[in-house]
Amino acid sequence: MTAPHAPAIKRFPILDPPMRPLPDGIRLRPWRDSDLPQAATLVEEAFRISAYVPVDRAIRPALVLDVLDSLTRSDHARVVESDGHVAGILMGQLPGRPGMPGARRWRALHMAWRVRAAAAAGCHVRTWREQRLFTSSHEQLRRRARTELGLELTLFLVSARHRGSGIGSILFIDYLHRLRRGGAGRFHLHTDDGCTWEYYERRGMVRIASDLITVKTRTGLRDVETYLYVGDA
Ligand SMILES: CC(C)(COP(=O)(O)OP(=O)(O)OC[C@H]1O[C@@H](n2cnc3c(N)ncnc32)[C@H](O)[C@@H]1OP(=O)(O)O)[C@@H](O)C(=O)NCCC(=O)NCCS
Repeated sequence: MTAPHAPAIKRFPILDPPMRPLPDGIRLRPWRDSDLPQAATLVEEAFRISAYVPVDRAIRPALVLDVLDSLTRSDHARVVESDGHVAGILMGQLPGRPGMPGARRWRALHMAWRVRAAAAAGCHVRTWREQRLFTSSHEQLRRRARTELGLELTLFLVSARHRGSGIGSILFIDYLHRLRRGGAGRFHLHTDDGCTWEYYERRGMVRIASDLITVKTRTGLRDVETYLYVGDA
């Protein structure tokens, strides 16, 4: 029985995206290590990480590290392939999973790329400063959250030429189903005003915290609003 004055737990129910017929040549499959180079290219296309990395030779390691950061924090990584090319990726945490089969190998790869990235940056101490600003902003958002955050959706993107054709929703629905099957409700994600955060609001997720940081890009200073979204699958 619920105590008479127990605070109501606020929920943020997800509205499932509409299922649309898939274009020919599209299939959903598990992540493979050989997807890493294409994933790094898609991360640059979607998030323009190169703008924050002042040393040219450090850009590629920064992109690969970004993918591996997400992969090593996830229990779920799925890819939509279009005619043999990676068209979309979603990574996230799932309840009660001991980690993905390649987890140990990915951690080793992560370490190796960190060393490569450090060597590429050399004595340019500012190389990772802007990315660290994003990381500390995310920590700040989590501290400000007044609600349970649950599991994390760590990476979600679709290649620019495939956006709007339903590929993102295939990946999103697949993740929601796996969360529900595992008995998990709450999940969260970090995003910012340079990303397609509108997608999450259309799905019923709610922005529960935001922060403002000023980052140095190759073309000058830029204010970036970072956001924390939560939803109940
Ligand atoms: C967010 C993202 C993954 C969605 O993938 P997608 O394949 O475009 O998603 P869908 O096609 O399934 O759905 C897009 C929604 O936008 C609408 N839309 C229509 N045309 C669109 C277009 N050209 N581009 C994007 N969305 C479009 C669709 O109607 C759909 O809304 P609905 O499901 O309510 O009908 C994709 O936009 C993306 O990669 N953005 C850049 C990376 C990013 O910001 N990631 C998320 C933040 S971390």
